[in-house]
Amino acid sequence: MNLKRRDVLIGGGFGAIALTVAQSAQAIVDWLRLPMFLLPALPAVGLEPALMSEPDLPDLILRFAITADAGSGDYYQYQVARAMTRYYQQHPFPLVLLAGDNIYTNGEIWKLGRVFERPYQGLLESKVRFQACLGNHDIRTHNGEGQLRYAPFNMPGRYYTFKQSSVQFFVLDTNGNADWVSQLSWLEQELSQSTALWKLVYGHHPLYSCGRYGNNPNLIQKLAPLFARYGVQLYINGHEHNYQRSQPLQGTTYLTCGNGGARLYPVERRDWVAMADSRHGFSVVEVYGDRLQIQAIDTQGQVFDQCLIKGV
Ligand SMILES: [Fe+2]
Repeated sequence: MNLKRRDVLIGGGFGAIALTVAQSAQAIVDWLRLPMFLLPALPAVGLEPALMSEPDLPDLILRFAITADAGSGDYYQYQVARAMTRYYQQHPFPLVLLAGDNIYTNGEIWKLGRVFERPYQGLLESKVRFQACLGNHDIRTHNGEGQLRYAPFNMPGRYYTFKQSSVQFFVLDTNGNADWVSQLSWLEQELSQSTALWKLVYGHHPLYSCGRYGNNPNLIQKLAPLFARYGVQLYINGHEHNYQRSQPLQGTTYLTCGNGGARLYPVERRDWVAMADSRHGFSVVEVYGDRLQIQAIDTQGQVFDQCLIKGV
């Protein structure tokens, strides 16, 4: 056995022991319902030297990953981050949508090392860009202003838009205290002016949900007509701590990706639900000229949901 191979195996062994200890400690913290920050610091998630990238389809335009409700700083977030990092090495992506509740429990900036910089260390060192929005937990400290100023979250404002290839992303502040009058006016103007092939909107809260919170009539009334009018193909959210994918509703698919680390919530069957699962993981969207491919991936790297959204 050469030295490098042995080092990898020894390193992997220690890593596995560290994770087993972390899992046991997490179980105790869960059982006693103690604050998760009583747990010892978990090792940073770096790149794995043995992994190689696999070839993409020739017409791939953009691949991006999504995680939400991730900022627990506990064993489960690190398991998801490890799976994301491993996936990245085989299928590189330049962008992660961080769809809110980035820092539990109260959006405390001092926790960023534990809930962001260490779990995503390998991705950050690889220059993967995160684009965040604010969840309900994030605004509990100074209304989220600290996160707006934190450069790696790449937030020019509480709501904003950015383009990448043929995709335009519209990022919302879906919290109850948002300036909804200004935000909705801005959203309609931006959507109406957009010439992007793909218009994707994300915010923390779901419009439709088959989990703990159920549908949100207020958000449906505010946003769904705009999505239908301007051809938004996909709305992405967290808040529900599970994975949900709707059937297309008036042309928009609703994707809940709140399975990024926080304690899971159950899901129920509904007639508008195409797939729902209470399982930790992350999601990946591949953008092509004529279709989007959505994949849900668990902490073992298994694809547990997949669908295609055809362009018009
Ligand atoms: Fe939330």
